[in-house]
Amino acid sequence: MPVYHKLGQLPRKRHIAFRKPDGGIYNEQLVGNEGFTGPASLLYHIYPPTTIKSIRRIRDTAYQADPDQTLKHRHFKTAQIPEGGSPTLDRVPLLFNDDCAMLFVRPTVADTHFYRNAQADEVVYVSQGTGILESQFGDLPYREGDYLVIHRGIMHRFKMDPVPHRLLIIESRGYVRTPTRYRNDYGQIVEGAPYSERDFRIPTELRTYDEKGDFPIIVKQHNGLNELILDHHPFDVVGWDGMFYPWAFNIHDFEPIVGRIHQPPPVHQTFQGDGFVICSFCPRPYDFDPEAVPAPYNHSNVDSDEVLYYASSEFMSRKGIEYGSITLHPDGIPHGPHPGRAEASIGAKETNELAVMMDTFRPLKTAREALPIEDPKYQFSWIEAGAGFNPPTS
Ligand SMILES: [Fe+2]
Repeated sequence: MPVYHKLGQLPRKRHIAFRKPDGGIYNEQLVGNEGFTGPASLLYHIYPPTTIKSIRRIRDTAYQADPDQTLKHRHFKTAQIPEGGSPTLDRVPLLFNDDCAMLFVRPTVADTHFYRNAQADEVVYVSQGTGILESQFGDLPYREGDYLVIHRGIMHRFKMDPVPHRLLIIESRGYVRTPTRYRNDYGQIVEGAPYSERDFRIPTELRTYDEKGDFPIIVKQHNGLNELILDHHPFDVVGWDGMFYPWAFNIHDFEPIVGRIHQPPPVHQTFQGDGFVICSFCPRPYDFDPEAVPAPYNHSNVDSDEVLYYASSEFMSRKGIEYGSITLHPDGIPHGPHPGRAEASIGAKETNELAVMMDTFRPLKTAREALPIEDPKYQFSWIEAGAGFNPPTS
């Protein structure tokens, strides 16, 4: 990603008069990043996107860190986060640094407002739920296992089906993209990468609303939420083209790379940000050398904090770790398999694990809101859990 895409009506060339049926001209808007040089799209609106009737700041969202900075492995149980609220306004911050943040929400109330994050790209991992991600670029249906990549500035709304939702949100200061090594000099995904362009889903149905009225738009900027009232429906786009739009990739479309002996976590890399990466641990055959130890070797994360989200509702047999668990293994303390796990893994043929990993290159802070869902015993689980504790595998 990205590839060039277009939907709806477009003029013959950019920046020329594009006439409406009534003789007026459509309102052209460039949406993109890095000024006028990064990935961008051109949108054609019925109404100007600038006709704002009022603005107010709703609340601050600056993340507050746990004052206890003791270095330790940590475990948080997102299943203990109560259901409720909005998919965009009621997210619980868990971990953060200056490059990225991880939040979680189990929303039950569909938004009536539109939302855009002006200070971060968002990767929304749909751990549970189905619906449609609506945007000015068209409808993008989503389902369980989807990563929804919503670049900064893209106005959108979650049209949730009436089913339980669990959304893991990763905010990124930098542009979220496929890893450089997965792309050739011409931008195409190379053979040997764990996915191809065919696996990416792009909005394919454009809905155009010609409605006047009061339409609230919530914009996250300057570590706060701001409400703008627009005097028309913001999804008034009749056509767009370019390389900047929301897109989806399902974790089950990630093709795991396996080897005769243990492959290190970078083979699971899925996305790249500035200062962090996102990896997908998917069901796969284990290492096939008879003497191979499929469980990971102990490792020290030099210059890397490692966060794992356990994403499978069918993967409940692991003692100590549950669906929705998040573990943080910080730089400065080694981690590895729990006692007995390395020996027990020899000869195992496959794993059904499903996990999303965020590796950050600068230390993470724990948000205060994560403390009520923390399992305080986790840091000693290598001593106390014994062979029964089945561990993170990264
Ligand atoms: Fe690890």
